[in-house]
Amino acid sequence: MKEKIKSIEQEINDFEIKDLAILEKFRIEFLGSKNKLKNLFGELKTVPNEEKKEVGQLLNGLRTLAETKFNSVKDSLESNSTKSSSIDTSRPGEISEIGARHPLMQVRSEIIEIFSRIGYTVSEGPEIEDDWHNFTALNFPPEHPARDMQDTFFVESDKGEMALRTHTSSVQVRVMENQKPPIRTISPGRVYRNEAISARAHCFFHQVEGLYIDKNVSFADLKQTLLYFAKEMFGENAQIRLRPSYFPFTEPSAEVDVSCTICNSKGCNVCKYSGWLEILGCGMVDPAVLESCGIDSKEYSGFAFGMGIERITQLKYKVNDLRLYSENDVRFLKQFTGNI
Ligand code: DAH
Repeated sequence: MKEKIKSIEQEINDFEIKDLAILEKFRIEFLGSKNKLKNLFGELKTVPNEEKKEVGQLLNGLRTLAETKFNSVKDSLESNSTKSSSIDTSRPGEISEIGARHPLMQVRSEIIEIFSRIGYTVSEGPEIEDDWHNFTALNFPPEHPARDMQDTFFVESDKGEMALRTHTSSVQVRVMENQKPPIRTISPGRVYRNEAISARAHCFFHQVEGLYIDKNVSFADLKQTLLYFAKEMFGENAQIRLRPSYFPFTEPSAEVDVSCTICNSKGCNVCKYSGWLEILGCGMVDPAVLESCGIDSKEYSGFAFGMGIERITQLKYKVNDLRLYSENDVRFLKQFTGNI
């Protein structure tokens, strides 16, 4: 009898349990309803009385041994399996990618930096604007097409009818109303127009307005300021040319072209083989605008200019579809990682 107990004890100790299926086999063999120990318990009655106590204890010890082994192996197998499904310590770590600033914001910062080097401050105004600041103070006649619903988004508010500003020129009015010359400021911001979205037009875009008001400011100052800007933005070899134009708020007015940065003015399809690319509008602030904003036009003169940030970005980075700027396609945005 003692021999049999010893050999089963050996069996229990040697039983190798690698997974839950084998553990079940172990349970059936040593702890199940027809387990091996039961036979031995059955044989207990054949054991002489004086040995019964000792053999009984040995059998109980055998059952405890099987139970202890079962429980401890079960615990360790179960905790291993949950660990391995949630954490794989052999996997490489996840790298958190560094984001990029939006290309329009990069160019915006660059424009601000260029003008701040020659003493321009930054001023901002509201995107929802009243008629006075967006149109009337800027000399737009009542029947001007920009005041039409087709070109401008109008919104109703408790202050009456308001417009989403169509240009950042509205900020020059606010600055002139609130500050005394000399004024030297640029106003970057988002503007809105009622346009169908395409590669070349969008219902919102970004502009930077420039304003310089002081005594004896001349058109030559304007031209030199813009030449400085073009060289800083597009490189030392950049040239500009001014073409006469019309804006209600400047007199005289001009549109400014920069020499084509893509073909070095040799002629390509971007500059339509002219060697020049239009970048902004500008002019001497109309005396009527100065007066509307409370500045004495006999004492002061000034110039203003306005450029599109999308346009400058297009020329600098050769982006030929305006929609790319607002679609958030990471394949586009990723190209600007690490610029600034
Ligand atoms: N506001 C004009 C536009 O949106 C751009 C512009 C032209 C601004 C001439 C100016 C300027 O300050 O002098 O098209």
